[in-house]
Amino acid sequence: LASVEVDVASLTPGMSLIVKWRGKPVVVRNRTEQEMKDGEAVKLSDLKDPIARNANLPADAPATDANRTTPGKEAWMVMVQVCTHLGCIPLGQEGDFGGWFCPCHGSQYDTAGRIRKGPAPENMAVPVFKFISDTKILIG
Ligand code: FES
Repeated sequence: LASVEVDVASLTPGMSLIVKWRGKPVVVRNRTEQEMKDGEAVKLSDLKDPIARNANLPADAPATDANRTTPGKEAWMVMVQVCTHLGCIPLGQEGDFGGWFCPCHGSQYDTAGRIRKGPAPENMAVPVFKFISDTKILIG
């Protein structure tokens, strides 16, 4: 399927679900206040990959916390949950940065899915997506 519609009505803050889109797992996470604060507190100069990698934004958009999400819905992370090192599936809410941890070679991502430590070169990809209602997301 080129596009996938996801009902997120049941996701309270701190909950995630994973859908398959174009053969890849895409995580949809309703982040907690703390996760958002942690993400916003990170300086761009501390990022290994300073580019947002968000298909909804220009290719050179900086990797601020907000640029990893969508305007007005900053709590929500929608992201291809595939490690940018060699393609393993990172585990959610693990590791030193409270985001994602890849068990294959130890890459660590923060609460906005940005690479912070380990061999992965890039932030995990944010696919084309939009909210089509308060509780529905269209991916792709
Ligand atoms: Fe994730 Fe190597 S595939 S760290």
